Amino acid sequence: MTTAPERTHRTSRPPMTQVAGRLINGSVRRSYEPAVAIDWDAPLVEGKYFLPKEVISLYGTAYWEELTEEQRIELSRQELANVLSVGLWFENILNRGLLLQLLREDPASPFAHYVLTEMGDECRHMTMFGKVIDRVGARPFRMRFADRVMASALPHFLRGSLLWVGALIGEEIFDAQQRRIMGDPELQPVVAQLMRIHVTEEARHIRFAREGVVHRMQDASRFERFLVANLQGIGGPVMQRALVHKGIYHRAGLDADRALREARANPHHREMAVVGFAPLAAFLEENGLMGRVARRMWQRAGFLP
Ligand SMILES: [Fe+2]
Ligand SMILES: [Fe+2]
Repeated sequence: MTTAPERTHRTSRPPMTQVAGRLINGSVRRSYEPAVAIDWDAPLVEGKYFLPKEVISLYGTAYWEELTEEQRIELSRQELANVLSVGLWFENILNRGLLLQLLREDPASPFAHYVLTEMGDECRHMTMFGKVIDRVGARPFRMRFADRVMASALPHFLRGSLLWVGALIGEEIFDAQQRRIMGDPELQPVVAQLMRIHVTEEARHIRFAREGVVHRMQDASRFERFLVANLQGIGGPVMQRALVHKGIYHRAGLDADRALREARANPHHREMAVVGFAPLAAFLEENGLMGRVARRMWQRAGFLP
């Protein structure tokens, strides 16, 4: 079998097959089966938030000050259901992208085997997200028809470096946030458990995707680099639209128009978005993948200062 270009290397970096081999070993040592790793029978803790206050879109606004404690907790439940739903959509798209990638790969290589391992992780994550949405007494947010059509087509365009960068956009922003909040003692225990499992397994996925980007960039043409450096900016408005929308406030029983307006203008929420995007932004900069168009899109969406 021939070796795909992204697995060859000119520098001292280990080749992708070696990276994949190490990640497979890591997966064997430390993986979780949420069906047994989470205590599904434990009751929800009265008065605890489903997401820490500081990451809720309205935290710090005038509207937030008017909300009762119950309303705030309910909003945290709906925002959790939303973020897990977005995670489900993203992992669905990623897995289909990876499956298509596998059609072009040597099925006997560690590279292919790690891709399959990662897909298995994501299948368990999707189950876990769905179960937690149900467990906290919320309902999942569903994609609209037009979004579903786009999500069906997307994996066919996510090839080469676009697949890796797309994976990082979906993984790193949530990851940075989860790392900061999973230890919050005010969090519902089931949510904290979910985040601990997810952070552990995503660390491998992020490593794999980052290595994928770096290897790919060594052989990329200027055109490919330019294209990826600017197309990745679409992630900004997509994330913004997915994470803050009226549907969340409707379900929380709030004035959705006012809530959306105040959330969009909320400097605290913007700061959280910037902090969440910072590690990925730095990585993209380092690899020459933050084009002018993309930078403006991330800024407009509130993820860059
Ligand atoms: Fe995941
Ligand atoms: Fe992942």
